[in-house]
Amino acid sequence: MHVSVLKKEVLEYLRPVVGMTIVDATFGAGGHAAAILEKLGSTKEGGRLIGIDRDPAAIDVATHRFKKEIDSGQLLLVQARFSELANVLQDLGREKVDGILMDFGVSSEQLLSPTRGLSFQYTAPLDMRLDPREDFTAARLLKEWPEHELRSLFFSVGEKSYAGRIARAIVRRRGEGKIETTDQLVEVIKSAIPAPVRAKRHLHSATKVFLGLRIAVNHELEEIERGLKAALPALEPGGRLVAISFQSLEDQIVKQTFRSWASDCVCPPDLPICVCKHRSMVKILTRQPIVPSASESSSNARARSAKLRAVERL
Ligand SMILES: C[S@@+](CC[C@H](N)C(=O)[O-])C[C@H]1O[C@@H](n2cnc3c(N)ncnc32)[C@H](O)[C@@H]1O
Repeated sequence: MHVSVLKKEVLEYLRPVVGMTIVDATFGAGGHAAAILEKLGSTKEGGRLIGIDRDPAAIDVATHRFKKEIDSGQLLLVQARFSELANVLQDLGREKVDGILMDFGVSSEQLLSPTRGLSFQYTAPLDMRLDPREDFTAARLLKEWPEHELRSLFFSVGEKSYAGRIARAIVRRRGEGKIETTDQLVEVIKSAIPAPVRAKRHLHSATKVFLGLRIAVNHELEEIERGLKAALPALEPGGRLVAISFQSLEDQIVKQTFRSWASDCVCPPDLPICVCKHRSMVKILTRQPIVPSASESSSNARARSAKLRAVERL
């Protein structure tokens, strides 16, 4: 079962109180959602949580687990991408909300699913789609992408020294036959990295390649950019946006986006006077990212790389 990360800190920064409408844009297993629901009070008191997830399986499980809250109208669940937030709210007859939570990446249920191909620990087809109705799988990416694009993808997620060799090994292997399963890919990755190097690594040698493929298959970074863009206009004045990232590419997008929203000028630094007329739209609540306590990190390995950032709409 997925253990929600930084739960106490999410409540502290999102500050849900009775009567608010909050969006949990990455509903997952609903751990954060359950904690938020407790703070929102009953439907009579006006509290409402809108739960979004792009994974139909997550929505399906949540529909059963949160039946009482759904029946009472306290929880509305929508299968969608968070970049589609404006449409989701419009369909529900709302324009703005009091808070939005985004907890990026995948849940433990998705990662440990023996059929999704997100983990190198299980033999499974190289699928990796968070929404199985989309048609681009990791197997197709490995079949179609040119070598230089594979190399830059692996390099971008931190596979710095062996990105080129892994990309070359993939291209060589696909000339001989298909790469369709997780264990076939692990074997190709291993063939590209000398055994003594593999033995010295803290992480499994396939970790970063699998992460890169998942990010690319699901367009995760583009989704974060679009999702943040969609979240800002959806916040009431005083409304808060809380984002939790798990790797630096995600956190960089959040950090830079929040900085530009908080800035009174986004002109290039060499311009003598401001011509952009940009005005600050948020207050940054976390000058430094909030990270899990030592005890949370030791009890939940997934939490170790988490960084929480939050802003308040002016
Ligand atoms: C880390 S889990 C969230 C866990 C959740 N906060 C909890 O406490 O159980 C991330 C979830 O976000 C979903 N997700 C990822 N990208 C998404 C997107 N662009 N739009 C909506 N949901 C997304 C995934 O399907 C996954 O269920």
